[in-house]
Amino acid sequence: MNDRHDTNASRLTIDYRNAMAAAVGPAHGVTDSMLDEIAPVVAEHHARLSAEHGAGGQRWMDLPSDTALVAEIETFAAEVRARYHDFILVGIGGSSLGAIATVQALAHPFRNVLPSATRGGPRFFVLDNPDPEKVAATLATVDLASTLVNVVTKSGQTAETMANFLAVRQALEAAVGPERTRQQIVATTDPAEGLLRTLADQEGYRTFPVPPGVDGRMTVLSAVGLLPAAICGCDVGGLLAGARAMRARTASADVRENPAYLLAALCILADIRLDKSILVTMPYADALFGLSDWFRQLWAESLGKRLSLDNEVVFTGQTPIKALGAIDQHSQIQLYTEGPNDKLISLIAVGTYRAKVTIEDMPDGIPELDYLRGAELGQLLQREQLATAWALTEAQRPNFTIEVPTIDAAILGELFYLYELQTVMGGALLNVNPFGQPGVEAGKNATYALMRREGYETLREELLASTGTETAYQLPAS
Ligand code: PA5
Repeated sequence: MNDRHDTNASRLTIDYRNAMAAAVGPAHGVTDSMLDEIAPVVAEHHARLSAEHGAGGQRWMDLPSDTALVAEIETFAAEVRARYHDFILVGIGGSSLGAIATVQALAHPFRNVLPSATRGGPRFFVLDNPDPEKVAATLATVDLASTLVNVVTKSGQTAETMANFLAVRQALEAAVGPERTRQQIVATTDPAEGLLRTLADQEGYRTFPVPPGVDGRMTVLSAVGLLPAAICGCDVGGLLAGARAMRARTASADVRENPAYLLAALCILADIRLDKSILVTMPYADALFGLSDWFRQLWAESLGKRLSLDNEVVFTGQTPIKALGAIDQHSQIQLYTEGPNDKLISLIAVGTYRAKVTIEDMPDGIPELDYLRGAELGQLLQREQLATAWALTEAQRPNFTIEVPTIDAAILGELFYLYELQTVMGGALLNVNPFGQPGVEAGKNATYALMRREGYETLREELLASTGTETAYQLPAS
């Protein structure tokens, strides 16, 4: 790792005073002695993670260094940006949420309706859910003759992704014929295995790798997230530079110095010692709402586990919720402030927004609105964030604030890496494996069985037998 030579320094700050007992009381806040107690445990896990990384494990930590991949992606993206009018990403979960979060954070909020000269690449559509209404509408909206399709699946066989992809492929074939269809598809999948890999090799699609040994939800900084982001004109080099800056900053084993370990400790202590079983992530920026959605999957799938590392049934996991400031002050904050005190609330504040809107022209005769004279909307949003933090604290609701100086590629890269390491340390503190998702696999297999996939016949029989004929608890239409 060459982090020492990077010019980028980490820029985000964390204010966790309101998560501490001194601010919200000993029943709801973390104490210094809790942090003292957990510090050696964190340091021990830090040493283990470093050793595993040194021995070729924890490969997600290497993704920020892959500048050769960035160069390859940028060359490809520059070519297709100029050539295509539309771009469809087909993927789900870890194979789409990172790209959605990145484009939402870094691109113009209405880029799809901008003229092509200012848009910075093709219009962007995502097919994640196999919802026929959305898929049909997407296929009817894009110009199929000028559409690039990026199908992304690590396993190469996820039912939703393969079904959506086959629907898109068949529409392309009908519109432009098989040869051009092959040229208009780029597949991001395992370099050696899986059904999509077989199909890609068979049909000659351009491919990019999903790095082996990295879980889907940790792949945002690989081709999975970077390729769609680059096609939409985002600065993917900046994203990796930011991630490297956070990687350098998180080299410390000290829970009070390392921001990822600090957040992991606060969240896990709040969950297991203070009964804060819910973790809310509430950015005060529309552009970061996708990030809280991405984090929601990361925290839920990584920590929601039935078995501990010692194979004991533990049913762990803190429920992640996404909220958006200031909108959810008018929807959720009532509950967060006066409902059950079972939440830790993470606010994300923005130092300088990328646009300024100042109110200069005021109507006459309504002095009650004078407080908005000369107001700037970003300043209003910042004050709302401070006011919310204060109100939550007054009500003894633990909260902390991550402040980003502004929203740009580097800070987003920092946040991605921060949250990934926080999650891996969270798993260690809970004594569960943060990788893998056995609970998701059960549902995936049941879907294959119900769809009559070969090899799933026994499961299908079991499933059908278990649904039974009992109708007592079903409500028919009137
Ligand atoms: O984190 C994970 O591994 C999962 O959420 C996957 O990303 C999701 O299930 C999609 O899987 P795949 O990329 O294999 O289609």
